[in-house]
Amino acid sequence: MKQYKVGLVGIGTVGTEMIKVLRERKFPCSEIRVLATRDRDQEIAGETFHVRETKAEAFDGLDIVLFAGTEGAKGASKLWGWEAVKRGAVVIDNSADFRQDDRVPLVIPEINAEALDKHQGFIAVPNCSTIITLMGLAPLIRAVPVKHFTAVTFQSVSGAGHKAIDELAAEVKAYQGEEIIAYEPTAFADQIAFNVIPQIGGEKADMPGYTSEEAKMLIESRKILGLPDIKVSCTCVRVPVFYAHSIAIHAQFAQPMTPEMARDIIRKSPGVKLVDDLASGLIPMPIHAGHTDDVQVGRIRIDPCVENGLALFCSGDNIRKGAALNAVQIAEALIQRNLI
Ligand SMILES: NC(=O)c1ccc[n+]([C@@H]2O[C@H](COP(=O)([O-])OP(=O)(O)OC[C@H]3O[C@@H](n4cnc5c(N)ncnc54)[C@H](OP(=O)(O)O)[C@@H]3O)[C@@H](O)[C@H]2O)c1
Repeated sequence: MKQYKVGLVGIGTVGTEMIKVLRERKFPCSEIRVLATRDRDQEIAGETFHVRETKAEAFDGLDIVLFAGTEGAKGASKLWGWEAVKRGAVVIDNSADFRQDDRVPLVIPEINAEALDKHQGFIAVPNCSTIITLMGLAPLIRAVPVKHFTAVTFQSVSGAGHKAIDELAAEVKAYQGEEIIAYEPTAFADQIAFNVIPQIGGEKADMPGYTSEEAKMLIESRKILGLPDIKVSCTCVRVPVFYAHSIAIHAQFAQPMTPEMARDIIRKSPGVKLVDDLASGLIPMPIHAGHTDDVQVGRIRIDPCVENGLALFCSGDNIRKGAALNAVQIAEALIQRNLI
């Protein structure tokens, strides 16, 4: 079997998980070249890597480059993504920077792997909450068309990077009596321990009242599902959970989608696990979904507010299926489809 030279840009929460996933899945690689902001030796997931400073020549000879750097103008993908493509690699990018670029397929392999067939060297991984929502919802939509859906997210702190994980732990330690003593939040604008923060991202200029994270659920779902007119309303909430995002989804279908039909579809769909027996307490929860690959789907029931309404609840690991695992699965799908 061909062995690939794999680059990894960024070695924070997602990058570290990427190494674990590559090793666990025995990804066929002859080299993993780790790049970040500066040179150093670093132990990552039990292996010592020589981390190199990211520069153009560092991409030479690589077949695949997984990007897990910070987003935005000074972030790794904007600075180096297309340079890596120019130097012959296929880029799989976890940032939000190019997800709406027409040249860039936005892919969840279980849902729209066929979008890879016309790739131009650069593929984007969707937002973690969008992935976890669509893993539960898309198989149902494939069976019965959907009219619209509403999603309320419960997002773990690991979605905001390693500093946010440390911040929740530090605040819990600093909790005395009924207040947190001598700790000023820096990763979040407010205390996250024993709190929920219904704001992730800034206000989206063209969607007044909605945040950038909420807008992603709409625009990314449209692109992935190939449904440019679907209406989606979303509220994104940061919660004091370390790993795994959860999403409460209410969807209106064009024709009946009964809970029994939905359970049957979820049972047969890849990458999801039906966890749905309220009487015996079998419900999706981040404490069980964290550090696992499958997205848990449960609390499936009729939503009586609309005709053909269905409600469900999904929990999935934002670092694994929401980022690192999805990226590695894209690389595997490229190999399977002879696209690399
Ligand atoms: N956390 C999640 O749940 C999640 C889910 C989906 C997508 N994502 C996306 O995945 C990406 C990584 O997130 P994260 O949570 O792993 O971040 P993180 O923990 O903050 O780590 C960021 C990493 O990027 C490196 N980096 C930053 N700017 C760079 C540049 N210009 N060139 C090269 N390397 C650079 C940093 O290098 P140094 O180590 O040298 O500082 C660090 O290793 C982000 O785009 C994020 O939005 C995250």
